[in-house]
Amino acid sequence: MIKFDLSNARSYMDEHEMAQMQAQVSLAHDLLHKKKGPGSDFLGWLDLPQKYSRSEFGRIRKAAARIRRQSDVLVVIGIGGSYLGAKAAIEMLSSHFQAMQTKRQRKAPLVLFAGQNLSADYLNDLLAFLEDKQVSLNVISKSGTTTEPAVAFRLLKGWLENKYGKEASRERIYVTTDKQKGALKKLADSEQYETFVVPDDVGGRFSVLTAVGLLPIAAAGIDIRAMMKGARQAMQKFNKPDLTNNSSYAYAACRNVLLRKGYAVELMVNYEPSMHYVTEWWKQLYGESEGKDNRGLLPAGVDNTTDLHSMGQYVQDGRRILFETVVQIEQSRNQLTVPNDPDNLDGLNFLAGTDLHEINSKAAQGTMLAHVDGGVPNLQVTICERSPEAFGELVYFFEKACAISGYLLAVNPFDQPGVEAYKQNMFALLGKPGYEDKQAELEARLSDKE
Ligand code: PA5
Repeated sequence: MIKFDLSNARSYMDEHEMAQMQAQVSLAHDLLHKKKGPGSDFLGWLDLPQKYSRSEFGRIRKAAARIRRQSDVLVVIGIGGSYLGAKAAIEMLSSHFQAMQTKRQRKAPLVLFAGQNLSADYLNDLLAFLEDKQVSLNVISKSGTTTEPAVAFRLLKGWLENKYGKEASRERIYVTTDKQKGALKKLADSEQYETFVVPDDVGGRFSVLTAVGLLPIAAAGIDIRAMMKGARQAMQKFNKPDLTNNSSYAYAACRNVLLRKGYAVELMVNYEPSMHYVTEWWKQLYGESEGKDNRGLLPAGVDNTTDLHSMGQYVQDGRRILFETVVQIEQSRNQLTVPNDPDNLDGLNFLAGTDLHEINSKAAQGTMLAHVDGGVPNLQVTICERSPEAFGELVYFFEKACAISGYLLAVNPFDQPGVEAYKQNMFALLGKPGYEDKQAELEARLSDKE
């Protein structure tokens, strides 16, 4: 089970400050559970681990098995909440070197991602890499109208049809989208692709435990039943408002106490390279949920100990605006002890016989204490192992905390109005019909700068 420890933030906040948050947390809990808060149309994720569609889940597992049989590579096309959850799970739970392994070693196709950028070089490199491979596509877009995945899908679909022919391609294209609306749904219906649903009441960044995340994760050979079990356990554990008994809420309260004291940046810290994309997923979850109405913490991340040699100086000694949330994994999958060296020229024999995971843990503890002394409060979230169950728990822990934290901040945690601004400008600059006035205005502004 997940553990949350705020003892390394204690010198920055008195016990009574957490106690004083209880009333607000209870109110946030009521808003959430009675579906009375802003954005309450998007609370489907709340009981998803229990209430998910069993028949769709079965179809996901079957489709994943077919993809595993048919293909060397599954290309997942999506952006934001339509890719980060799957990427986080696959990176956390697979070999670090899965991309260099054969399909036989991986026991699953390689899952690659597209449509999460607009880079011509990225997509050209991907198409060249796919040339001699057996390929399936899973295009994921809740709205079905997002430009990045739509462009990538058009290109990859054309490439696939060229390789297999239109008819055989149908057996290799899987669409995850709204159950009835959007351009992608229309296309999927007319082409008769196998389709999975993003529930109406689950927003993109809360959708990893729907078909959005589950199909690619299952195709990568990961046990999605165990993942749902972990999420279900978390759902049962974090369903009461009492801060002393609900660590997800304690985390939400704590980060708000710290924010109100001027710690406006939350740095998620890991000591395992496999956790890099969990941080990226978390950044989107919190950034998009809370960063509105000129409010919110800025979510950032570092991968330690690597980044101690790049960002460590700033964290130790720079502007005192940040606190850290350290996500740790109790056990490594395998042991690796440092060997004895009779010459001891590197002076490391004091470590002989010590497990590398133990050294990593000591590095984490030492760093935490140094940062606390340097003016950086530290929160700690610990999971027991790199397992699908632990991933499911972690997802629910952070989702629930995010909703509570958003309500503590008095924002709507479930919308993202700010994401539209860049899209409007991009459409105008690309000459989309209907954007003529905006295009003229933006081009004038750009030419002023030249
Ligand atoms: O969390 C969100 O709602 C967003 O990040 C979306 O997931 C992202 O913009 C992609 O949207 P869509 O799935 O509609 O293509």
